[in-house]
Amino acid sequence: MFYRDLFKEPNRIIKGEGVYIYDQSGKRYLDATGGSNASIPIGHGVKQVIDAMLEQAQKISFIPMHLFSNEPAERLADEIAKIAPAGLTTTWFVNSGSEAADNAVKLARQFQLEKGTPGKFKVITRWQSFFGNTLGALAVGGHTFRRSKYMPLLKDMPHIPPAYCYRCWFNKNYPDCDIDCALFLERVVKQEGTECVAAFIAEPIVGATTGATTPPKEYYTIIREICDRYDLTFIADEVQTGIGRTGKWFCMEHWNVSPDIITTAKGLSGGYTPLGAVIVRESIVERFRKNKSNFVGGHTFSANPVSCAVALAVLKYISSNNLVERCRESGEYLLKLLKELQDEHTIIGDIRGLGLMIGLEFVKDKKTKQPYPPEVRLANAVTEEAASRGAIVYPGVGTADGISGDHILLTPPYIITREQMNELSSILDDSISAVEKKYPT
Ligand SMILES: Cc1ncc(COP(=O)(O)O)c(C=O)c1O
Repeated sequence: MFYRDLFKEPNRIIKGEGVYIYDQSGKRYLDATGGSNASIPIGHGVKQVIDAMLEQAQKISFIPMHLFSNEPAERLADEIAKIAPAGLTTTWFVNSGSEAADNAVKLARQFQLEKGTPGKFKVITRWQSFFGNTLGALAVGGHTFRRSKYMPLLKDMPHIPPAYCYRCWFNKNYPDCDIDCALFLERVVKQEGTECVAAFIAEPIVGATTGATTPPKEYYTIIREICDRYDLTFIADEVQTGIGRTGKWFCMEHWNVSPDIITTAKGLSGGYTPLGAVIVRESIVERFRKNKSNFVGGHTFSANPVSCAVALAVLKYISSNNLVERCRESGEYLLKLLKELQDEHTIIGDIRGLGLMIGLEFVKDKKTKQPYPPEVRLANAVTEEAASRGAIVYPGVGTADGISGDHILLTPPYIITREQMNELSSILDDSISAVEKKYPT
């Protein structure tokens, strides 16, 4: 197998139950990344999901979607429309978050063609954002570490500064700032040419690349206004933040702002099967219908009936167990618990997040916010210490500027209990202490 790390043979995981996974030696780990960054909202091994998967597989597992439709996909699209922001009524299914980003960008571009504005093709994005690892998603992404080796293959797009209060690019402090990071979008639209820009894409809260950086509450209202003023399709990547992760079904609800397209994946199928979705505003689809035009896309496994049946069971489980609200409450508890660690540890620079999506950013010097040199691989050191003590966290590099800076991201299942959050906090406390001894400030 072509492992992600070719220089270390990973342990095999053989079982999952609730918030825990078990390796071949029987060692138990608290899965505080929820699979891989926000993929396991309801925990591992939920019987209702496995039953739904089996029931659908016994009927049929694959359908030629170029000619036919299927009931689980249709029902799932209806359920998604019920939980999505008003007006986002129509879902295009894909198989992953990266595919969702690729398809959303293509849709936004084709929408401009359908409207008779073929010159509009640029997609403005933000530095240090991440929409996936395919060439299309990397092209609109903004994480230098993940993009640099493939740059010659990427259609580069204009970038604006991130909404990153801890390291404000404008050296200001919220709330005594004008939310310059949002206003910057207008400047770049004008510089690139209003007749050339088709869309803006952002993760409502940035996950893998900056560790739950959460914008000021005014940020997306300003972004929405600029998108409206210059006829840009606003794409919100809710691959991590969607499906309840931040304490609302979709994160943009926190700010009462409705994007034009939402992408989601990960938690949608609870980590049981691959599935992604592009949720589209009705007026966009209406334009295609009016023009008697189809979206040029489609993947072999799109709208797979087993994955859609799984997602229906996952959404039902979240709703019937009131897990979105529980996620909000647990997030508040965990954030408070972790903030208590901040003063005790010299290397915790910042702790932030919303719901059960929490990031801890590490620094060598708390006063100057200077990060450790990248070769120290500090986030990996914390991750390994935590794994050795029985907790899985997700390491992030390039937090500060795309190359240097370290954080870990915590996105545990919504079913995590207070005792398990206490266990996680205690493991992190010990793990960070061990790293501080190894790499003194
Ligand atoms: C915000 C965001 N978008 C897209 C992706 C890509 O999703 P996938 O790995 O399913 O392709 C990720 C993956 O971590 C993500 O965090």
